[in-house]
Amino acid sequence: MTTQPKLYVACNFPPEVLDFFTSQFDAAYNDMGRVLSTDELIEHAQGADVVVLTATDPLDQAAVARLPASVKVVCTYSVGNNHLDLDALEARGIAVFSTPGVLDEACADAAWLLMLGAARRVIEGIELIREGTWQGWSPRQLIGREVWGSRLGILGMGRIGRAIARRARGFDMTVHYHNRNRLGPELESGAQYHSTLESLARESDFLCIACPASPSTQGLVNREILQLLPPNAVVCNISRGDIVCDEDLVHALETGVVAAAGLDVFAGEPDIHPAYRQLPNVFGLPHIGSSTLRTRLAMAELLCSSIKAHYSGETPENRIR
Ligand code: DGY
Repeated sequence: MTTQPKLYVACNFPPEVLDFFTSQFDAAYNDMGRVLSTDELIEHAQGADVVVLTATDPLDQAAVARLPASVKVVCTYSVGNNHLDLDALEARGIAVFSTPGVLDEACADAAWLLMLGAARRVIEGIELIREGTWQGWSPRQLIGREVWGSRLGILGMGRIGRAIARRARGFDMTVHYHNRNRLGPELESGAQYHSTLESLARESDFLCIACPASPSTQGLVNREILQLLPPNAVVCNISRGDIVCDEDLVHALETGVVAAAGLDVFAGEPDIHPAYRQLPNVFGLPHIGSSTLRTRLAMAELLCSSIKAHYSGETPENRIR
């Protein structure tokens, strides 16, 4: 086993994060200031033992087959791993690491930003301020949806879902959730389990999507689910765009079936459904859930320590294959 692995860092990192990687390892890196194409990534990975990439660097089966023979480890600087063909990587004997745990709180903060911003019509409010069209206070103006005391439905009660749930106590909300498996009482922390998404939807004034993306979650939040939501519901997505059926959500937002949506993630990023750019009841953010410097550095630290552990013969908990 190599004791000093050579890294290729494909991500376009902020300087602090790049400095961290280069201070820990012999690391070549992407200095082009942009996302690499798959061909470029494969070319630059020649001779590297470890490739560090992220959600914008997909490796499908064909790309995995073309990775240089030197590559023995792929680290994804993300908690999501739906951009990787894990089976193909495993079949090639490539170990895969991700960054669970360290970004839960930043993502949960962002989920709350989305829910509050969507519920309180922030987009329309900002427009009045920035365009100078505000006519002054009025009791009719931008009447939103109350967050405090409402019911929060969380789809996916993993670490991020539970971090979102913890914050809901401060808003005196009742928390409901749907998972494939019910959690134990300690992790559930008083949240009410629903064995189906349909049942969760009926109780969700706020439906917050926090489950991992996989082929089985694609299009899960569709017209049928949206129609089950209580009147004036708010939908929030902090996970991956393709869990939502865009046409169905856009229709629900246009017709008032859903009051508003707070979305940090979109199918086909950055080429998002055009209606999300126009609708006044969409509070959209450009996939910044984990984007704080502390979290960015914690993700780097986790990957660097797991590479070191791996090359010392250990199996770190964040090894996903
Ligand atoms: C994650 O960590 O999965 C973020 O969404 C960035 O990809």
